[in-house]
Amino acid sequence: GSVLAGQVAPSRLLGFKAVPTSVGDDVVVPDGYRVQNLIPWGTPITGDYPAFAPDGSGEAQGQQVGSHHDGMHFFPLDGSAGDGLLVLNHEYVEPRFLHGAAAGLALDSSGFPCQQDGSRDTDQVLKELNAHGISIVRIRRGDAGQWQVVRDERNRRVTALTPVRLAGPVASTEHVQTRYSPDGTMTRGTLSNCASGATPWQTYLAAEENWAGYFANQDTEIDRRQARYGIATRDTSRYQWHRAVGGADAFVRFDASARGASARDDYRNEPHAFGWMVEIDPMDPASVPVKRTHLGRFAHEGVVFAPAVEGEPVVCYSGDDAAFEYIYKFVSRRPYHAASADGSLLDEGTLYVARFHGDGEGEWLALAPGRNGLTAENGFADLADILVNTRSAADAVGATRMDRPEWGAVDPHTGRVYFTLTKNPQREIEEVNAANPRPGNDLGHIICWQEDGTHAAERFTWDLFVLAGDQHGSRDPNGEPLDQDAILANPDGLWIDPDRRVWIQTDISESTLNTGIHEVFGNNQMLAADPETGEIRRFLTGPVGQEITGIAITPDQRSMFVNIQHPGATTTAEAFAEGRLASHWPEWNNAIPRSATLVITREDGGIIGA
Ligand code: FEO
Ligand code: CA
Ligand code: CA
Ligand code: CA
Repeated sequence: GSVLAGQVAPSRLLGFKAVPTSVGDDVVVPDGYRVQNLIPWGTPITGDYPAFAPDGSGEAQGQQVGSHHDGMHFFPLDGSAGDGLLVLNHEYVEPRFLHGAAAGLALDSSGFPCQQDGSRDTDQVLKELNAHGISIVRIRRGDAGQWQVVRDERNRRVTALTPVRLAGPVASTEHVQTRYSPDGTMTRGTLSNCASGATPWQTYLAAEENWAGYFANQDTEIDRRQARYGIATRDTSRYQWHRAVGGADAFVRFDASARGASARDDYRNEPHAFGWMVEIDPMDPASVPVKRTHLGRFAHEGVVFAPAVEGEPVVCYSGDDAAFEYIYKFVSRRPYHAASADGSLLDEGTLYVARFHGDGEGEWLALAPGRNGLTAENGFADLADILVNTRSAADAVGATRMDRPEWGAVDPHTGRVYFTLTKNPQREIEEVNAANPRPGNDLGHIICWQEDGTHAAERFTWDLFVLAGDQHGSRDPNGEPLDQDAILANPDGLWIDPDRRVWIQTDISESTLNTGIHEVFGNNQMLAADPETGEIRRFLTGPVGQEITGIAITPDQRSMFVNIQHPGATTTAEAFAEGRLASHWPEWNNAIPRSATLVITREDGGIIGA
């Protein structure tokens, strides 16, 4: 059944006129709205503020906005609606664009620059590491309404090289001892930062999603700490960083093969320091980022916190974005007190994984020593062993295997939790379950649930909010097919604003975008839903080849920030070789496409979406 059957009424929350689907190389917003492009990849924000150049150096990249913008949050300064720190993730890089599309690069069969002997140029590798991570940049609204970067001592880059502290039950254990940190307290950098979250104490959490692909491992045998996450025994990795000329320690560590006498002599444990949520205090540029290991180790898409309640535990939700993976929840042991709350609340508590029953009921299964069969006899030695092997523990307790969990959001009024499930074409008909009802799920869906009492509850009731698709086979919250103003595929980004608009961002893969069953949806887009009436309306369409991801708003809700990631990613190897790029957004004139942040405002200065 549907959540809202029978409640069809005009939306009071959605006040804009829907935009049509689009295949244009531009951003389209509703009538009465304006859009500004801000901080494209390479914008100088710190240090010597080196100007952007398509073939700029690795060192310069470390002082500029990274590539492939994703999760984001606006931290107002003194509560201002026009001045704050914008903090955003940089998920990955496309070397063919990062190193200058016009630079005559030799590309391998995967489209990556490579030298003839298979080694990687050291400065290119440095640039790639520095284009990952997080940007913290002060921005301010000018008198004419345009936003600008402000030079500020808090502006900062956290990259794949920044020293990061490990905290929680896995810190200081044998799992994370390396040559760099023999006592297992530190690691270097953060990778594949997809979505994010903001804590109730105003820090930022960056997720580590597809980190496993960054590691090579030439050993003949590897255990579940790597194998269950997709690391294989091979001498290749996504970017071949371990093959950088010169063999610097910071690059060699991406080969996790055992070489030395013990784990303290090599980087066999390096991958175990990845797959976590990373906490950053944007207000303190000297602060060391912290990986909070009690939130579990998997392909973290992001994290969303339930509204904090004084004297109650802190609760947050996080999805593992891979086919047949799980949705998790963390409940802190210590209660939240606004006056003293900080990240250490995330170091003690209980990690749970979701099981969705066929009757609309659900339960949270604790991943803790002695709970649900997680004992030493069953192969889980202690809490650190459970957490470093979160996926294996979730397998063991019988959690529900989902269709790629992406973002979650919590309705601030009802407490209802929503999660996007972007797709899972691999699901066979005999693997279908009530919460993942479609075999060969190419289009995705959105699930929602209500906890049984407080967010810390171990029981919930759930329903499907939307089955994505076109007018044939989709289902809106009222049980009807999505209408032309609402058709969508592959929901990914999800956020609920203070007025309860549910913002939905799509990520149709560049491999299927604008083709086959996905052709009807056009370029990736952003829509808004009214959770009371169930109406969904398209708000924005993006340029060619990109996905829409990342969303933040000012406290007055009159400036919204949205990220455009990987414009031009649909450029084929053949077209690239001939200098034909699928997108030149946002500068056109034959420029390299660059990920960037949009600032969306209304001509009448009103609330976005209203
Ligand atoms: Fe990086 Fe799951 O999207
Ligand atoms: Ca995503
Ligand atoms: Ca993506
Ligand atoms: Ca995605």
